[in-house]
Amino acid sequence: MKKKIIILPGDGIGKEVTTEGKKVLEKIASSFGHEFEFDEAVIGHDAIEATGNPLPDETLIKLKNCDAILFGAVGHPKYDNDPTLKVRPEQGLLKMRKELGLYANLRPIKLFDELLEASSIKPEVLKGSDILFFRELTGDVYFGEKGRKDDGNTAYDVMIYQRYEVERIAHKAFQAARTRKKKVTSVDKANVLESSRLWRETVQEIGKQYPDVQLEHQFVDSAAMKLIQNPRSFDVVLTGNLFGDILTDEASQIAGSMGMLASASVGDKVGLYEPIHGSAHDITGKGIANPLASILSAALLLDISFGLKEESEAIIKAIEQTLKAGYRTTDIADAKTSKEKILNTQAMGSYILKQLSQAHVAVS
Ligand code: IPM
Ligand code: MN
Repeated sequence: MKKKIIILPGDGIGKEVTTEGKKVLEKIASSFGHEFEFDEAVIGHDAIEATGNPLPDETLIKLKNCDAILFGAVGHPKYDNDPTLKVRPEQGLLKMRKELGLYANLRPIKLFDELLEASSIKPEVLKGSDILFFRELTGDVYFGEKGRKDDGNTAYDVMIYQRYEVERIAHKAFQAARTRKKKVTSVDKANVLESSRLWRETVQEIGKQYPDVQLEHQFVDSAAMKLIQNPRSFDVVLTGNLFGDILTDEASQIAGSMGMLASASVGDKVGLYEPIHGSAHDITGKGIANPLASILSAALLLDISFGLKEESEAIIKAIEQTLKAGYRTTDIADAKTSKEKILNTQAMGSYILKQLSQAHVAVS
């Protein structure tokens, strides 16, 4: 298979982890006889420094002309600590999602058995958890009208949803549920918000087309509680942009660490794959970031954008074996992990490659 992939490292540890994700994609190409052509582009803080624009036109053109994107993260503490700055790295990410029509963000929360102890939640509560979030990505307060009133003391962000935006992501969630445990939990705040009432009404309507899928509704506050009280009660979770952003960070604890969670953003055409973690400037440059979320993002890319199931599963298997052998990055290490088994970012990536080589020798 011949494909063009853009690597978009972004800021902070984004660069460190995508280097490992790319290494794994190269390895898959050589082992399975594919031809992946790679190109890079800038986004976020680095792009602002170089061009004044967090998503330069040159980057956007490249993104519109490729088969898939492996993205790292954007952000910089300089902006977090100064809310008055008008041009911000995150605007690059939001514009990219909008321009590429990436309306559905899939965030699988799957716990590797070996990491049961790494979570702050009790193992008996966690065991067997397997949740797939569908977070809507191009609507909500993120893209509604925003501004300040003339008095300077009033600010607003409008929470807005249109019926078609809810319909298209609802279809995706129900279709995915059909391939899983056939349950969709739609999360909203319909007891208070009008946009949530439109959300709920629309999801109920679409649900009628999937009578084989069980549909339940939860308010976001209650869902936040139930996620850690009984994570096994969820299968597919369908929710809006802001609620999805918050709930998936919370749900990352079910998988042991933010460093383990990958995501796929899909929609009109090209797919974008990225860890759910941010640029993490507090650990940037130390070489200790967990590259597994980026490597898992590469696995999602192969599966969803290219339909390469076997290749994708080979990566997941390699990760399982690595964890089984006791190797950890610091974020997923527990009291029992010996010092020799703690790997830095690059060593973790290389160990995964080694596992992939062995697996390939074993099958061929
Ligand atoms: C995410 C991030 C982004 C979001 C930020 C960086 C704009 O937190 O992808 O979850 O809020 O969507
Ligand atoms: Mn987030």
